Amino acid sequence: MNEKIVNLKSQLDAELAKVENAADLEGIRVAYLGKKGSITDLLKGMKDLSVEEKKTFGQEVNILKNEVGELIAAKMQELQEQAIAKEIASMPDFDISMPANMERGSYHPITLVQRDCERIFKSMGFTVEDYSEVVTDYECFESLNIPKHHPARDMQDTYYLDNGQLLKTQTSAAQNAIYKKYKPALVNEGKPIKAIFPGRCFRNEATDACHENTFFQMEGVMVDKNISISNLIFFMKTMLSEVFQKDIKVRLRPGFFPFVEPGFELDISCLICGGEGCPSCKHSGWLELCPCGMIHPEVLKAGGIDPEEYTGFAFGLGLTRLAMMKFGVKDIRDMNSGNLKSMVQFTDNE
Ligand code: DAH
Repeated sequence: MNEKIVNLKSQLDAELAKVENAADLEGIRVAYLGKKGSITDLLKGMKDLSVEEKKTFGQEVNILKNEVGELIAAKMQELQEQAIAKEIASMPDFDISMPANMERGSYHPITLVQRDCERIFKSMGFTVEDYSEVVTDYECFESLNIPKHHPARDMQDTYYLDNGQLLKTQTSAAQNAIYKKYKPALVNEGKPIKAIFPGRCFRNEATDACHENTFFQMEGVMVDKNISISNLIFFMKTMLSEVFQKDIKVRLRPGFFPFVEPGFELDISCLICGGEGCPSCKHSGWLELCPCGMIHPEVLKAGGIDPEEYTGFAFGLGLTRLAMMKFGVKDIRDMNSGNLKSMVQFTDNE
């Protein structure tokens, strides 16, 4: 074999052994196979050879050319594999067995709506409070003017623990603690109590398209001097138009809840059927979304607040229901199904 070819080949082997990255490798490729590369040079030098020599030399150069191409390609693959291995090693949590085509999850519609509400209420000066799911009978009922054996308890059967505590049936269960927490600032610094507290609630309930044993509510309270029903209506309307980003038809009708006086049911026109009537709204065209009212003096008293001096409003927004309306979910049971496919269709773009 021609000496030049042998030399070039061993030079290449030495250079390839030292290459560490794709850029260097590309440099080598150009140096050997490029228009002005060493192999092209060899071919150019052929003009001085005899016909016989040209034939052998030409063949040898062509073989070299192919070989060089293959060696460079193989080296490129090796570099790529090394880079992937390095990347994997730098990610301790990387699960190599995870299917590459797995669908991405998305936030649950309730989470999205809850965050939306929190943002809106925060912008109106409310603080967001977290509260436990296991509460006492006093928190869930007694402090809310629902003594033992009160018929209002029938509507809110729940799951009881052996120690007498229970899974809260309503976010109202946090009211008492909130009043006690913020009373000093209210009385000493004149700071109104403005808080919302979203949370999961539980009821021992037969399930259907609009009832579930586990659902989310968001309670809100505002207490200060001279708070009236018009404050309540203002906050409710502002919140709903922000959440839905359009004018929503609402109606206010009297409603009884032992912890408010007067109490109201705030209904919105069903957004699933446009008010025509469907299973989601029990065929009435309206959906109870946000019961509310002026906090009962006994409830303020239980929270250590003098009802002669302070008044306030409270509301219990059905977060699950709100999410159903916003995302057009027809059956409440889908919300807890844990089925990614059914949830992702509502929130895919978020
Ligand atoms: N806690 C009530 C329920 O779950 C809802 C409610 C009604 C909350 C009136 C309130 C209110 O704050 O003022 O049925």
